[in-house]
Amino acid sequence: MIRGELIELLKKKGFEGKVDHPGVEKFGDYAVRADVDLEPDDLIEKTEKVAGFTNIFIKKEALLKEVEKLNYEIELKNELATHGKGKTMVIDYSAPNIAKPFGIGHLRSTDIGQAIYNIYKILGWKCIGDNHLGDWGTQFGKLIVAIKKWNEKAVEELSIDDLERLYVKFHTEAEKNPEMEDEAREWFVKLENGEAEAKDIWQKCIEISLKEFDKVYEVLGVKIDQTLGESFYLDKMPAVIEAMEKKGITKKSEGAEIIEFKNMSPAMVKKSNETTTYFTRDMATVKYRIEKWKPDLIIYEVGSDQILHFRQVFETAKMLGYRANFVHVAHGMMRWATGKFSTRKGDTIHLSEVIEKAMEEAKKIAPENTKEKIMAVAIGAIKFNDLSQDPKKDIIFDWERVMSMDGNSGPYLQYTYARCQSVLEKTKILEQKNINEVPIDFKPEEMSLVRELSKFEEKLVESAERFNPAVIAEYLLLVARKYNEFYGKYRIIGETEEVWRIFLTKTTSSVLKLGLELLGIKTIEKM
Ligand code: ARG
Repeated sequence: MIRGELIELLKKKGFEGKVDHPGVEKFGDYAVRADVDLEPDDLIEKTEKVAGFTNIFIKKEALLKEVEKLNYEIELKNELATHGKGKTMVIDYSAPNIAKPFGIGHLRSTDIGQAIYNIYKILGWKCIGDNHLGDWGTQFGKLIVAIKKWNEKAVEELSIDDLERLYVKFHTEAEKNPEMEDEAREWFVKLENGEAEAKDIWQKCIEISLKEFDKVYEVLGVKIDQTLGESFYLDKMPAVIEAMEKKGITKKSEGAEIIEFKNMSPAMVKKSNETTTYFTRDMATVKYRIEKWKPDLIIYEVGSDQILHFRQVFETAKMLGYRANFVHVAHGMMRWATGKFSTRKGDTIHLSEVIEKAMEEAKKIAPENTKEKIMAVAIGAIKFNDLSQDPKKDIIFDWERVMSMDGNSGPYLQYTYARCQSVLEKTKILEQKNINEVPIDFKPEEMSLVRELSKFEEKLVESAERFNPAVIAEYLLLVARKYNEFYGKYRIIGETEEVWRIFLTKTTSSVLKLGLELLGIKTIEKM
């Protein structure tokens, strides 16, 4: 990786600050805010000092060598895998709630979480993806009350929409009859005590929901290593509660048990009726993960409405002496371009509705394609919209942008990839993975593309370090744009530069394919 080599060189010169890319190409490939002397060598072409910066120009040969590597998949993957060698990470993502439909918030968690997982994996980390299913908690008390009061079918015949409807009805009715809340709490106590009727209803709700979630994962092409829901930790809670009590960090307060912190509100370990909490289940989860996998890093891809919760979890983990790097990738909310994200059914967006609409839009773009391809475009568009924006920010969902063929969209990248494929189909040059001779006269568009391609590995590393798949998404857009500029200006087939230009096309297509794969987006050979 050129950036890595450069950082080493700069270190030897006593510079350890930030190494950036200058905004404009004429200022070189890299820039540092300092006066550093680097002699020309195999890597360095020259340096220029401007206004307190040192601009560093990389040798063409070195850039090309870096770009050639991208065509040798096995060697490339071996090299990428050295970054995280010997390190382990656990990522907690997706985590929808039983008896509630898979909403758009969980879609963000699923898409971003899966991409982060893929990126760490290709960088050589041992990765454990865990779907921390919301399958326990007071909401089941509410659901049981609703089912017993208003449901007319056998429980196993309910659909996930029925469950949602019953759950919503509970809330509207409970506003008028607050004693229903007490009933719900009682049912949750029964559930925690393993009472047969409560457990039976709960179990059936799980089956109904899982069937639905599996369909969603199948459509999204997502596979999560394991699904240890909150209920998995039931028998593991006494041990973690004991550990907290032994450390002397818990405290009785109005019959409940809490942990107080210096600069945030307290966390609830046990409620006054002895039932456990989301927080305690998360503490049991931390303990389990630390003991089972000894991870260096634990990532939570969960909405920003849970920032306080995770600060409490991480702080408590520290008090308990659990050593790992804890990160909450707190994704922002999604809003429609026209205002709040809401549908005919209520306040949660149902993923199935979004997919349906995306399919309709995709059909307009690629009418004569098969259902499978249209699906790949639709899903790719939705995912890319999610992944190309900073996870931490609220994002706007704007259909025009999501499906745009020439803008910053998934379809645009798929389209560019298919364009590369059609060029590669036309050429008689069979294999053009490397370039034996550096062409003397680079066109500026070609040089610009080469420079962009040469950043592939460093972008992966940056994206992992920042827990941000948008780094890769933006990078792929730049590659595509630069390829298209080149493509729009020069002929490829039949030209004296054909070999060289096929090399550029081949490399662009490899980068787009691998990059999109990391983002969980399918490429299409013909579009
Ligand atoms: N099921 C939860 C929700 O939808 C998210 C769980 C996130 N993971 C965790 N370890 N708490 O709000």
